[in-house]
Amino acid sequence: MTILVVGGGGREHAIIKKLKENRSIDKIYALPGNGGIAADAECVNIGATDIAAIVDFAKNNAIDFAVVAPDDPLVLGCVDALNEIGIKCFGPEKNAAIIEGSKVFSKNLMKKYGIPTAQYEVFSDMDKALEYLETAPIPTVIKADGLALGKGVIIAQTRDDAKKAVKEMMEDKVFGESGSNIVIEEFLTGPEVSVLSFTDGKTVVPMVSSMDHKRAKDNDEGLNTGGMGTVAPNPYYTDAVAKECMEKIFIPTMNAMNAEGRTFKGCLYFGLMITPDGTKVIEYNCRFGDPETQVVLPLLDTDLYTVMEAVADERLSEIDVKFKDENACCVIMASEGYPVKYEKGYEITVDDDIDGEVFVAGAKAENGKLLTNGGRVLGVTSTAATLKDAIDKSYKAVEKVHFGNSFYRRDIGAKALKAGDN
Ligand code: AMP
Ligand code: GLY
Repeated sequence: MTILVVGGGGREHAIIKKLKENRSIDKIYALPGNGGIAADAECVNIGATDIAAIVDFAKNNAIDFAVVAPDDPLVLGCVDALNEIGIKCFGPEKNAAIIEGSKVFSKNLMKKYGIPTAQYEVFSDMDKALEYLETAPIPTVIKADGLALGKGVIIAQTRDDAKKAVKEMMEDKVFGESGSNIVIEEFLTGPEVSVLSFTDGKTVVPMVSSMDHKRAKDNDEGLNTGGMGTVAPNPYYTDAVAKECMEKIFIPTMNAMNAEGRTFKGCLYFGLMITPDGTKVIEYNCRFGDPETQVVLPLLDTDLYTVMEAVADERLSEIDVKFKDENACCVIMASEGYPVKYEKGYEITVDDDIDGEVFVAGAKAENGKLLTNGGRVLGVTSTAATLKDAIDKSYKAVEKVHFGNSFYRRDIGAKALKAGDN
């Protein structure tokens, strides 16, 4: 069987490595993949958003199944286009990917169907937004409607900062058309939990929970990043919270999308906050999270392809999706200076006796060497019976990976360890 994976980051590397455990898969293409993924799949230099080229490639290479992993091709309709030429896919169609593609859509969906989320107002007129901010509770949260490379959320601690953020989005268009409409919402507090789920529109199966670490520096300081590390499971996600989420969030969201004629099939990501008022949705993503996938998939016990195919065929209820009763920790190794300015082109080497998996994100192959080629270079994941052991193992494994200007947080999992003690 031949599989096509669209995307080229650490998430895609984790997906590809897991798919390879299935012996009936004899070929995986990654579009575009990266220098590290090239060890596990054939990388073809076609951009993840070049839908026409992806379709052309799929037509000419006898693809049996496609996994579309990143948000932008999903929102652009990559799955629709592949389905049209008869290729089965894992991932939502365009009309369902809007759950991530438009914050206005997702907020209105939650309001309409009574799914708990922060109070909010939508604005398409800057003057009205600025007027609203004169009396809005502070801190407040400003969100660009569309995709903004994970940067379209501003938490404003003062009224002036809030107004500045609105002007930047609506007048200066720092996120382009993504900021033509904005959401201004209530600032919530509490621990955050990521829950990825498999859903075929009939059944929703939550995966093991996880905790992301978004800030660049230790103690949650520094700028927001794409994620500097993850642990799974997340100790804040107790059985009681899981039950509450299933009843009030997961099933209602699946049903709401069906009721809107936008059946969601694929990985639906719930970004949650456990507030003093109950668990609320901070955001939906229409895809596997990164770096959450780098801890969640190593814990998956069931064959990934079997689950993905069942989702595409709408028979997920027939599959017993199981996770190992273990813990995982992923430390992201980045280039010093990320997420602002950093150097690239340093050689990456990994010692043979490393005890952990390496998922490569920002790297390219050149003359037989692997060179750094991005801000987040790779993720190192270890699993163990306890969270403490998983963290210790990951940090030991990190010492077996070498490249110039490398930088990583030293406290991935520290907060989770503390929470687990309480
Ligand atoms: P997002 O890009 O939607 O994941 O938002 C980025 C981060 O902003 C989230 O992980 C939260 O930490 C924070 N955030 C988003 N919305 C809110 C909110 N209403 N209240 C507090 N923090 C928020
Ligand atoms: N780690 C957050 C995301 O994938 O959006």
